[in-house]
Amino acid sequence: MSQLGGRFTFPGTTLTVSRVGYGAMQLPGPGVWGPPKDRAAALAVLREVVELGINHIDTSDFYGPYVANQLIREALHPYPSDLVIVTKIGGKRGPDKSWNPAYSKTEVESAVHDNLRNLGVDALDVVNLRLGAGGEASFEEPLEALLACKRRGLIKHIGVSNVTPEQYREIRASTDIVCVQNLYNVANRGDDAFIDALARDGVAYVPFFPLGGFMPLQSETLDKVAAAVGATSRQVALAWLLQRAPNILLIAGTSSLVHLRENSGVADLHLPADAIAALNSIGRPA
Ligand SMILES: NC(=O)c1ccc[n+]([C@@H]2O[C@H](COP(=O)([O-])OP(=O)(O)OC[C@H]3O[C@@H](n4cnc5c(N)ncnc54)[C@H](OP(=O)(O)O)[C@@H]3O)[C@@H](O)[C@H]2O)c1
Repeated sequence: MSQLGGRFTFPGTTLTVSRVGYGAMQLPGPGVWGPPKDRAAALAVLREVVELGINHIDTSDFYGPYVANQLIREALHPYPSDLVIVTKIGGKRGPDKSWNPAYSKTEVESAVHDNLRNLGVDALDVVNLRLGAGGEASFEEPLEALLACKRRGLIKHIGVSNVTPEQYREIRASTDIVCVQNLYNVANRGDDAFIDALARDGVAYVPFFPLGGFMPLQSETLDKVAAAVGATSRQVALAWLLQRAPNILLIAGTSSLVHLRENSGVADLHLPADAIAALNSIGRPA
């Protein structure tokens, strides 16, 4: 596979990204709260992201709150012209570190302005509307508020996160969607059919928790394949995603330079058919 997994252009846009991207959620302190334990190290990770040729960063003002975006700005502003920063709205953090829904018109507008200020840009490349926080929220009010921000030139493109295929179709009736960001990895394959449908539409599918997130992936099969191909189990999990579908973009999160380099190397790891068959058995019932 070509460097960084090749390139993907978000549909209907001029935004082209490396399929190996980077997720910024691991940069703030423990519990995705407060400043990083080692600020210089966090800034170094972000600078290395760009040095490696990665031009897709996933973030949110929920992370910290505000810390991840402020670090991105400090490390990388003024941004390389081809850097695509994808942020998300729909939640806010409580003083007790809780994750709470934020779907009213006022909350969406202020989240967009917070992101603009913290990232130091005049317009946000892509904003994901994240559903599902705090139960069955209706998407009409936050979507209308986001579309109003888009009409005012504050947002270039819209994506969705934590959505069902039905919600995606309903939202797509009102606006173009360039990406879907849902939980998916080698052990959690509930979106298999959805991914294939999005591939047919040319829409990016960006799995969050590609390495299991707060519950790291653990599987004997993953370890065995890793030993057979001479890679780490994390690299195998990421390489499997890259090979799973052409519209999958990686945003593995890390606060470590060593892990970042390891993760960016997966584009050179080709998994043979017998390894793919073994890995496919992890997320499917026997
Ligand atoms: N839309 C949503 O609702 C949503 C939800 C969650 C996350 N996200 C986005 O998705 C991105 C990815 O998710 P995530 O960061 O939560 O989970 P993840 O990528 O599945 O896993 C991150 C965890 O794996 C560790 N890790 C990363 N690379 C490693 C390696 N090579 N070897 C060993 N450990 C490694 C990280 O620790 P170290 O820091 O020590 O490397 C961290 O603990 C986030 O950064 C965020 O941008 C979106």
